[in-house]
Amino acid sequence: MRPGDPGTISVRLKDRVAVVTGAGSGIGRALAVRFAQEGAHVCCADVNLATAIETADIVRSHGPSAIAVEVDVRSQAQVQAMVDQTESELGLPWVCVANAGISGRGSILDVTVEDWEAVIGVNLTGALFTMQAGARAMVRGGKGGRLIALSSVAADWAGKGSLGYATTKAAVRHMTRNIAQQVAEYGITANSLGPAAAISNMAPWMKSVEYLEQLGRTIPVRRVGRAEDVANVAAFLASDEADYVTGGYYLVDGGIGDSPEVRMLLAEAGRRGARG
Ligand SMILES: NC(=O)c1ccc[n+]([C@@H]2O[C@H](COP(=O)([O-])OP(=O)(O)OC[C@H]3O[C@@H](n4cnc5c(N)ncnc54)[C@H](O)[C@@H]3O)[C@@H](O)[C@H]2O)c1
Repeated sequence: MRPGDPGTISVRLKDRVAVVTGAGSGIGRALAVRFAQEGAHVCCADVNLATAIETADIVRSHGPSAIAVEVDVRSQAQVQAMVDQTESELGLPWVCVANAGISGRGSILDVTVEDWEAVIGVNLTGALFTMQAGARAMVRGGKGGRLIALSSVAADWAGKGSLGYATTKAAVRHMTRNIAQQVAEYGITANSLGPAAAISNMAPWMKSVEYLEQLGRTIPVRRVGRAEDVANVAAFLASDEADYVTGGYYLVDGGIGDSPEVRMLLAEAGRRGARG
C-alpha cells in the first residue's frame, strides 16, 4: 500500500490549507484530492467554475472542507481575491500550487500575438500572480509555507512543438528557483515539477488509446503517466518532511529524460497542437 491508496492513513497535511489553481481537471484535480487525503482543506480554483465545484465535492467526500472559486489566473486582482477568500473561509494557506496551464500554438514563423500572449498570460504571469498572492499571505501569517509550480519536461526540450508553451515552462522553472531564494528566510519553500505524458483532459492525443499504447511502450517505466504520479511528489513537497527542499525542479516523467524515441513521439503530438 502506498500513501494515497484507499485505506491508508497518511495525514501529513492535517488541517493545513491548500490552494490549487486549475483544480477542475487533470493534475490540478489530482493535487486537490491528494492534499485532502493528507488532511488538508482545499481551495479548488479554476476558470471553469463547474469543474472546480466537482473537485470541491470530491475533496469533501474525503472529509476535509473545500471551497470552489472561479478565477482567471491572468488577473492579479482575481488571484488575490482567491487567496483572500481562502484565508477567510478555510484559514491561512500553507501550500499554494500554480497549476493552471494551457497549451500554446505556433512556431517562430507563424505564432500570432494572440497565441503568444494567451500562453504567457496563463502559464507564466498566472504562475507569478498565484505564487505572489500565496507568498504574501504566508509571509504575513508568519508560519512558513510551500509554493509549487507546474513546469514541464518541455522546459528543457528544443522540440518542434509549441514555442510559447516550452518558453513559459522554462521560465516557470527558473522563476520558481528565483522565488525560492527570496522566500527562504520566511520558512517558505518553492519548487517546480516537470511532468511528461501524464494523462489529463487537455491534449487531443491524450484521448487516443492507440497513441497512448505506442507512447507507453517507449517510456522507460513502460506506461504513460497519471495525474496521481504528479500529486504524489507534490504531497511530499507540501509536507514538513520537505522542509530542506527548495529551489528544485523535479521530473515526474517515468524516466523519459532525453530519450530521443519518446521525444520524437511527443514532438509529433506537439505538432498536432498538443503539448508534453
Ligand atoms: N499532463 C501532462 O502531461 C503535463 C505535462 C507537463 C506539464 N503539465 C502542466 O500541468 C498543469 C496541469 O495540466 P493538465 O495536464 O492537468 O491540463 P488540464 O487541461 O487537464 O487542466 C488545466 C486546468 O487549468 C484550467 N485553466 C486554464 N486556463 C486557466 C486560467 N486562465 N485560469 C484558471 N484556470 C485555468 C483549465 O480550466 C483546466 O481545468 C499545466 O500547467 C500543464 O502545463 C502537464
